[in-house]
Amino acid sequence: MEKNKPCRTARRPGQTIPEAVEELLAKMTTAEKLGQMYQSIGADITTVGTTQVKEPVEELLRAGQIGSMMQVGEPHDLAKRIRHFQDIAVNESRLGIPLLFCLDVIHGFETIFPIPLAWSCCFDEELIRQAAATSAREAACCGINYIFSPMVDIPHDPRWGRVAETAGEDPWWGSRVSAALVKGMQEDGGVMACLKHYLGYAAAEAGRDYNTVEFSDSALHNTYLPPFAAGVKAGVKSVMTAFNVANGVPAVANRPLVEGVLRGELGFDGVVVSDYAAVMELMEHGVAEDEADAAEKALAATLDIEMTTNYFRRHGEALLNSGRITMEQVDAAVRRILTAKYELGVMDDPYRFLREEEIDSTVYTPEHLAQSRTLAARSAVLLKNDGVLPLAKDKKLALIGPFADSSDLFGCWCCSTRKAEVATLATGLREKGFDFTVEEGSGVQQPIEGGIERAVAAAKAADVAVLALGEDDQMSGEACSRMNITIPECQQALAEAVAVTGKPTVLVLTNGRPLLLNWYDEHMNAILEGWAPGSEGGRALADLLAGDEVPGGKLTMSFPWHTGQIPVYYNELPTGRPFVEGTDEHFQSKYLDGPNAPLYPFGYGLTYGRCVCGAVKMSGENLAPGETLTATVTVRNEGSLPARETVQLYLRDRCASLSRPVQELRGVKQVWLEPGQQAEVSFAIDEPMLRFYTARGVWASEAGGFDVMIGLDSRSAKQNKAGFTLTAGVQE
Ligand code: NOJ
Repeated sequence: MEKNKPCRTARRPGQTIPEAVEELLAKMTTAEKLGQMYQSIGADITTVGTTQVKEPVEELLRAGQIGSMMQVGEPHDLAKRIRHFQDIAVNESRLGIPLLFCLDVIHGFETIFPIPLAWSCCFDEELIRQAAATSAREAACCGINYIFSPMVDIPHDPRWGRVAETAGEDPWWGSRVSAALVKGMQEDGGVMACLKHYLGYAAAEAGRDYNTVEFSDSALHNTYLPPFAAGVKAGVKSVMTAFNVANGVPAVANRPLVEGVLRGELGFDGVVVSDYAAVMELMEHGVAEDEADAAEKALAATLDIEMTTNYFRRHGEALLNSGRITMEQVDAAVRRILTAKYELGVMDDPYRFLREEEIDSTVYTPEHLAQSRTLAARSAVLLKNDGVLPLAKDKKLALIGPFADSSDLFGCWCCSTRKAEVATLATGLREKGFDFTVEEGSGVQQPIEGGIERAVAAAKAADVAVLALGEDDQMSGEACSRMNITIPECQQALAEAVAVTGKPTVLVLTNGRPLLLNWYDEHMNAILEGWAPGSEGGRALADLLAGDEVPGGKLTMSFPWHTGQIPVYYNELPTGRPFVEGTDEHFQSKYLDGPNAPLYPFGYGLTYGRCVCGAVKMSGENLAPGETLTATVTVRNEGSLPARETVQLYLRDRCASLSRPVQELRGVKQVWLEPGQQAEVSFAIDEPMLRFYTARGVWASEAGGFDVMIGLDSRSAKQNKAGFTLTAGVQE
């Protein structure tokens, strides 16, 4: 069909979306309705039982039996395939209902941005939003209009490989990032976003992916739900249910969670999609007897689309005939799907996302690469620096390690065909004009014969050794849980040998999760956490090493001191027997063989300047609803280089109906300070900021005392305290 030509589902002038949806619904057969609820893998296979079987996609499309389809590929090829399938759906099916085309565009389409855990560390919502918008625009001109992002799970366990896809451990910041990503994708990028994974997926027991999850009502509302609530408020059009059992019932069939909390409490009226084959997994979980039972249970929870299983389609009619499901349930789901399609604009113009002529000028452009480079530089976190950084250009370097000249910098989700073009660290340093030799020294997980010897010789011949170590793209992400969150042994052996040379050594890490870095903290002169930095990773890291960019990233997830501490996170609840440093009281909440505190806390990260945060000054002692208090600090750069700092406001509700976290992030402000420069940084505090989900099961603030903590990381903020009293609580 020709582009922009009105299609059969296009609205008549003046017709509203609800009117168009009802008109179409009235024309649909049961089979066509059930077909809308099926999301095909986009090839001639589907998930039946625990296996994938052949199915004739094109035939099903002609019969109006597929509502959406996953697709991936090289941009032009992808667009061609999408056009082909859309043509069949629009021209050859009875009603011509256009398809949605879906893809995991998690941190980039062809231009790859740093992983979400990385970009969350930049504490700049605008940059994050731009990355999402750019990714959506790149995908959209190839026909992709439904993106399975953002992931807004709140993780506490770095063994879980999918921490890489999250915005870290803080619900407040996670909520800000969630809204920024939804707006970037939907408002700026024009596609449909999808919050995932509803709910509690990150709380997998033992950090093992897909594992069971239990959470209290308080944890549900105060920890896991806020980023979903923020995404819903930002207008997200879709939510994906999680794989896991949540409080005894798999999320996809968890009626209280999906129908009750998501649709009821949060008022979400968009499309709920299952995760990949999760409806089938209801049988594995032991809550569904067979496929029909699984379909019935998922529909009862108000699931609208099943991803890659076709149980609604194949068993729906029988379930309807036997009264196990009702036409009202099916209609409600189809109504939501059709509404989303109208809102996206594909019902009026099925080809509005297929702009092949724009692909070359839109995808992987120099502007997008520049955005990615900036974001990667802003996302990196300087964990240690004794002054060796930035590197002086007249120093001879030995660049050592498996990531010295590796393009393995994309991270866990990458549909990009441009991996071979990634800027490696060696490329970045070379472009800066550094004089250096490169020695791989070790593989990522296996030693290289003679590698250590050659690396040591190179280090000895240089002024500074730069160790490029970490995890490759296969070591974090889905189904990539690790028991030992260490830098693999062969790389550690390499680092130890290089350290023995006594040469100043800088560790540049590229990886997808918090790692155990105690040994490195002791033995390295500097540590730069670069995460999986994306297409321009090597250049961005070189920018930082050379001092052309000033590091300013702050950790959004604690780096444990030992795996035995996990889960270790900054916003924990107080215990009745808090550990007090320096006391020898036995009955305290502590370990006999190590500290409670993580190695690097939430909010931590150095810059090239050295900032000092002054005492907190409050504008008053009491806060009444409707009023505002101001908390102010002076931040001064006492170093000899510029500083990019993120000043952080934490609050603590000292006494409430529920035990409240020892610290909760409630504000961030970024400052740039030249050497010797200082700035006053103020935060407004009002009553709505103090609300939480109380013991009475309502959102409210409660009168009483609050601590105000401001600092340059969560740990130092604890030592910089003031307070105020909320004179009266307010219930929402
Ligand atoms: C499984 C993952 O859990 C989910 O995040 C992703 O969107 C789907 N697969 C589709 O690829």
